[in-house]
Amino acid sequence: MLSWLLQRLSAIALLVMLFLHVTLSHFPPRDIDFDNVLTRLQYPGWKVFYIAFLAIVLYHALNGVWQVASDWSAVQRARRIVLGVTWIVGLIFLYLGAETIWRFDLVALMAK
Ligand code: HEM
Repeated sequence: MLSWLLQRLSAIALLVMLFLHVTLSHFPPRDIDFDNVLTRLQYPGWKVFYIAFLAIVLYHALNGVWQVASDWSAVQRARRIVLGVTWIVGLIFLYLGAETIWRFDLVALMAK
């Protein structure tokens, strides 16, 4: 029940965040290019926004796959293992993405 509710709430959050992302970064005068991304990611607020966006889409996608897969009796039998693996995969991708977003800034790029 909770995961059913969170699937809907995460879908609403994704709609709002996707709208903000597309309107604020894909339309003139903010044509999407490397400078645009670099400028935006100088602001910690945008980093937090994108990390939250990533966390929510990962939750939504993996929870959705989990809900579909859990109709399958083989998955039901290994419920805890499949759920555990799903969480580990999600957390690894969240770590990789969040680490990349958080470290992506001008100072770090110029130091290379
Ligand atoms: C703005 C973006 C999105 C919105 C508004 C949205 C909306 C929804 C909604 C309302 C559901 C529940 C459907 C139902 O149970 O009848 C759902 C399920 C699901 N979503 Fe999304 N979604 C979005 C993006 C994504 C993305 C990017 C992925 C995968 C990368 C994804 C994967 C899934 C999966 C696997 C399910 C489960 C399908 C099922 O229960 O049959 N969604 N989504």
